[in-house]
Amino acid sequence: MDRQIIWEQARNYDSFYLYEEKGIREHVRRLKKDFPGLEFLYSVKANPNPYVRRCVFGEGFGADAASLAEVRYAQEAGISPDRIQYSAPGKSGRDIEGALGAATLIADSAEEVERIQEAAKKKGLVAEIGLRVNPDFGFYGGRGVSSKFGIDEAQIYERIERWKGLSNIRIVGLHVHLHSQELDRDRLAEYHRNVLALADTFQKKTGEDLAFVNLGSGIGVAYCPGEDPVDTEALGRETAKLAAQMKERWPKLRIFLETGRYAACESGIYVTKVLDKKVSYGKTYVILSNTLNGFMRPSMAQMFLGCRPDGEVPANEPFFTGKDAFAFRTLCREEPDGTETVTLVGNLCTAADLVEKDICLPKLAPGDLVIMTNAGSYAAVITPMQFASQVPPAQLFLAEDGRVLAE
Ligand SMILES: Cc1ncc(COP(=O)(O)O)c(C=O)c1O
Repeated sequence: MDRQIIWEQARNYDSFYLYEEKGIREHVRRLKKDFPGLEFLYSVKANPNPYVRRCVFGEGFGADAASLAEVRYAQEAGISPDRIQYSAPGKSGRDIEGALGAATLIADSAEEVERIQEAAKKKGLVAEIGLRVNPDFGFYGGRGVSSKFGIDEAQIYERIERWKGLSNIRIVGLHVHLHSQELDRDRLAEYHRNVLALADTFQKKTGEDLAFVNLGSGIGVAYCPGEDPVDTEALGRETAKLAAQMKERWPKLRIFLETGRYAACESGIYVTKVLDKKVSYGKTYVILSNTLNGFMRPSMAQMFLGCRPDGEVPANEPFFTGKDAFAFRTLCREEPDGTETVTLVGNLCTAADLVEKDICLPKLAPGDLVIMTNAGSYAAVITPMQFASQVPPAQLFLAEDGRVLAE
């Protein structure tokens, strides 16, 4: 990203996110091109920044909403209810009532199906809903496993006759999401194949024509050195072929893919100012503005890695992806006098506010900037910004015409 733009913003803010429209559009356009015949939903929870939302929705994505508020964002953008899928466990009565008529509710439990029926009856409407299925297959093969998400596939077949008889709901779709942040194309292709087969079986067994099947998310981002991005062109070819075969059998079927991270992650950076620098027992600390309480993921990674110094930490999406999931870059006001090994920390009164240990960087001074990459998704949204009542980082959007827009 343009250094001058970053310096200009650093005059006003000690820490800020900068999301770049150009990159976001490139990513979402690539998906649209690579998966012909499929439709996309933006997983708003990854980054609900209004400019980011507008940009992705403007590319023709519908919404994968995880709350009533996210349903409203999509509604405000003029997206029709058939392209807003509201999928989350534990929806309250208020959530269900609020979303009826505005979105396609994806029931996450058998009990929720009944609650949607009751709410729709009260409102005097017939709700077209989907079921989130906990399938009888695992993402990495084998049988299905117990989960807090979705309704076990077998349970659906036990209850479907009853649900078909309910007067105020119609089950028109299935949704499966098992796993995020996958880089193995073959795994993703196999998963897509399995979900489409599940929808095929459902329609044959129940005699119901579905309006949609949502394959969920899964396409990952190459965060760490040595990781290769998903070849979306090759994956798209395979999935689009299966989708086309499916549509030949079920012409009314729409096939959706969801994505949050892929759309925005790599097109966001986090910029933080050096506030102070000190040496203690021979170790040099660079103190930055708003790290754990501005962009939590690097500090979170340190916490995970602190528990397992061997680095064998399982991914805990969306909080921790892997070791070295961010690059650190620097912008110095004056030509730095060589490099040095430092520990990057934040300005919170907790030792947990640690960004990176013993990293070799150009010599930094107060007022210089540290830039962290991969900050476009699951970044601002998951960060405890109220901690210590510091001024939170700004969230800025670099439009394609060069304007920098603040919320
Ligand atoms: C149901 C569902 N859909 C979509 C996503 C978005 O995943 P990603 O941002 O990795 O694309 C998630 C992430 O947790 C999810 O739980």
